[in-house]
Amino acid sequence: MSRIVYVNGEYLPEEEATVSIFDRGFLMADAVYEVCSILDGKILEFEGHVARLHRSLNELQMPAPCTDEELLEIHRQLVAKNDLKEGGVYLQVTRGAADRDFAWSKDLKPTIVLFTQAKSIEHSPIGKTGIKVIAMDDLRWGRRDIKTVQLLYPSLCKMEAKARGKDDAWLVEDGFVTEGTSNNAWIVTRDGTIVTRDLSTDILHGITRASVMKYAKEAQMKVEERPFTIEEAQTAAEAFFTSASAFVTPVVEIEGVALGDGTPGPVAKRLREIYLAESRARAI
Ligand code: PDD
Repeated sequence: MSRIVYVNGEYLPEEEATVSIFDRGFLMADAVYEVCSILDGKILEFEGHVARLHRSLNELQMPAPCTDEELLEIHRQLVAKNDLKEGGVYLQVTRGAADRDFAWSKDLKPTIVLFTQAKSIEHSPIGKTGIKVIAMDDLRWGRRDIKTVQLLYPSLCKMEAKARGKDDAWLVEDGFVTEGTSNNAWIVTRDGTIVTRDLSTDILHGITRASVMKYAKEAQMKVEERPFTIEEAQTAAEAFFTSASAFVTPVVEIEGVALGDGTPGPVAKRLREIYLAESRARAI
């Protein structure tokens, strides 16, 4: 069955939705995106994702394609039209279409595309089993705080992880882990402190990261924002990652070294439960 998607003001069957071959999103990766998760037909963390969308747009001097109220309405319409109970809504805004040129005209009309993806996220197997990660040099551009669609290098890293029989890669720069290919990286030290890299232009400012940090502090857990190395992570009590689509997911092996007994740890399990309960309660 074909999905109903949204493109530039229209709801269309996916086969009929098109954008120009001159779109700068296609030619230059001149585009930003967001992904909101859907549980029980409701949107999780909408406010956070829209706030970050504005931040990305501002950093790239791109105008917003519509108001936040319209964005919410489009999300809701797509969820309803596709009878989506669980999965995600992908949103992409590009600078618009123009004949190929590195410089752009300031009056381009942004392209906006949204589509749904139905998938099991709450009970996805990796939430229970955890994942295995490899380490890769972080060769992405220097503004990883902007959520652009330049995802070739993260895709290459993911493919390399799969080729090595693992699930994902943690990226390393100047000896320290920046983040995962599409998620924020965390460890739990042997004294129970939860550690994740501090915010800068080196990493995406994860919406899930911010919420998990808040909930962890509310639950009296000790949280530290600082960089850590692969070696520190390998000797940590636990590790996990956060993202909109995988919530809190345990990491059980890092670059060939099993963490603890090689099964998900109690802190990651607890944070996943708290995160799910809290975000479900706040879903709109
Ligand atoms: N990825 N870091 C990177 C590089 C990411 O691509 C993502 C999200 C995150 C986590 O951010 P958040 O918690 O706001 O989802 C961190 C999305 C899910 C994706 O590309 O599908």
